Amino acid sequence: MCGIVGYVGPQDARDVVLEGLRRLEYRGYDSAGIAVLADGALSTAKKAGKLANLEKVLADRPLPAATTGIGHTRWATHGGPSDANAHPHVSADGSVAVIHNGIIENFAPLRAECEATGIEFASETDTEVAAHLLAAAYREAPEGETRLADAMRAVCRRLEGAFTLVATHVDAPDTLVAARRSSPLVVGIGETDDGAAEYFLGSDVAAFIGHTRNALELGQDQVVEIDRARGVTVTDFHGAPVEPTAYTVDWDAAAAEKGGYDWFMLKEIAEQPQAIADTLLGRLGPNGELALDEVRLSDQELRDVDKIFVVACGTAYHAGLIAKYAIEHWTRIPVEVEVASEFRYRDPVLDRSTLVIVISQSGETMDTLMALRHAKDQKARVLAICNANGSTIPRESDAVLYTYAGPEIAVASTKGFLTQVVACYLVGLFLAQVRGMKFEDEVAAVVDDLRALPDAVASVLAEMEPVRGLARSLAGEDRMLFLGRHVGFPVALEGALKLKELAYIHAEGFAAGELKHGPIAVIDQGTPVVVVVPSPRSRESVHGKVVSNIQEVRARGARTIVIAEEGDDDVVPYADHLIRVPRTPTLLAPVVTTVPLQVLACEIADSRGLDVDQPRNLAKSVTVE
Ligand code: F6R
Repeated sequence: MCGIVGYVGPQDARDVVLEGLRRLEYRGYDSAGIAVLADGALSTAKKAGKLANLEKVLADRPLPAATTGIGHTRWATHGGPSDANAHPHVSADGSVAVIHNGIIENFAPLRAECEATGIEFASETDTEVAAHLLAAAYREAPEGETRLADAMRAVCRRLEGAFTLVATHVDAPDTLVAARRSSPLVVGIGETDDGAAEYFLGSDVAAFIGHTRNALELGQDQVVEIDRARGVTVTDFHGAPVEPTAYTVDWDAAAAEKGGYDWFMLKEIAEQPQAIADTLLGRLGPNGELALDEVRLSDQELRDVDKIFVVACGTAYHAGLIAKYAIEHWTRIPVEVEVASEFRYRDPVLDRSTLVIVISQSGETMDTLMALRHAKDQKARVLAICNANGSTIPRESDAVLYTYAGPEIAVASTKGFLTQVVACYLVGLFLAQVRGMKFEDEVAAVVDDLRALPDAVASVLAEMEPVRGLARSLAGEDRMLFLGRHVGFPVALEGALKLKELAYIHAEGFAAGELKHGPIAVIDQGTPVVVVVPSPRSRESVHGKVVSNIQEVRARGARTIVIAEEGDDDVVPYADHLIRVPRTPTLLAPVVTTVPLQVLACEIADSRGLDVDQPRNLAKSVTVE
């Protein structure tokens, strides 16, 4: 949510910042802006709408070449998307330019304070107060090389809420100062071909992976000063020095390119077999036992667990719903699954023997982060399932299991989701192994089933042409229903979410058995209903019940789109459209049944002429509550 880029170094900052913004546009895209510091003066350009609008402005009115620059791509919170509200914001005296991600919660009294000194605000944003306060704090700070950093620390001590701020000041050439509290910021340290040092700031590493893989993690409430001559200095908000943690980015720059696909989402869907394989890689020991080295919880702590909460948002929450079926089945530990934004507000019962599994692709989702902190305050153990190395959620958790999906650029999560589901299976199996609920050979047998998933997903992907045709025929619909039972129910929820967010079609997912308790009333002639059918081998005739549900909706005029296992002939008479998936063990089936729903949503959106990668009103990585 809001992309932030900063650069100090020998290259032309205009190019580096703009390239960073292109890579970060998925974080927010309702306006964009850039500021460079050249010859002791700030030059800015900003424009409402997608980055392309800003690029047009810059083509008509280029900024001067510079070695220091900042850029921002926005997802609006305070103040609508407009040129005036776009970042950077410049202080009234013209000395400071600031970009911001997050929400400054006490901005109203701070704005009143600035206005009382005669400052006229140029925007409706909370950010602008930071620019004016920083300019004033700079004037008051003692002269010296750390003056801008001192001023930033003084301002941060006054701010409430969550924020990443990056600032440049006309008196501090080749310097950037940034601060973070509960909002993402990473530092990149690079070297040009001729050996000159260069420094980057980014909301995430995508901002600079084309230039360097050497990064520094920043902790909460820290200020970083980047100076071309003096390098990187990190302190807390009171000036005490902090040693940042260095890490190497393992994402490859090409992974953040479209690679010939029309949409990042299509590319990421196609990458799912590899992403699943990478998530499984190296996690099975020589004797068939699971080896989750990053799970830094002792065997005793895992044996003491008597209750599990899975907490996440959106698609990641759906991964949690699937996890519940598998973890309860394998471990017999009760599992509750909850959306993160509700979790802490209802005062959940947590103690030392509770394991809270937080799932987040980005590792920065504010609702999930707040739930994690609440769980830790209550002494629960927290295990994160996360895709982004160096992000806040794994850093604050007791343990982490990374998914190795690589960068996910499309706003709608696909490979992030499937790898989260696979990681949840690994956690469930690991718990079952440690607690003696499963022998090593039993774990190894399920892991073998998991290892078959990349090929199974690849075979689904190879058969997607009819789904594309179906998508075109559905492009004019204004509502759709999705049904499933058992693990197929969260898949139905995920299918509906994908369709809503990408194609703006009203879609709802239901537990198939719940339909007759009300929702069936909305079905009339031609209503498209997607049904995720469980395997005929699933327990307690769930399969037969879903086949009956298909007949019920069809009898009321529904146009049925049925996703069923190969060889399941029972569904054939009732399917207006039949999408086949390979035979897969029941608990693992969501990994294959989700794929056609991703493709369907993507292709319907594309047929409607919509921007698949950047749907309206959304942003990747929601870093506000
Ligand atoms: C939907 C989608 C979102 C995210 C949710 C959580 O396609 O992508 O629902 O799943 O915002 O994001 P992370 O996993 O980054 O915490």
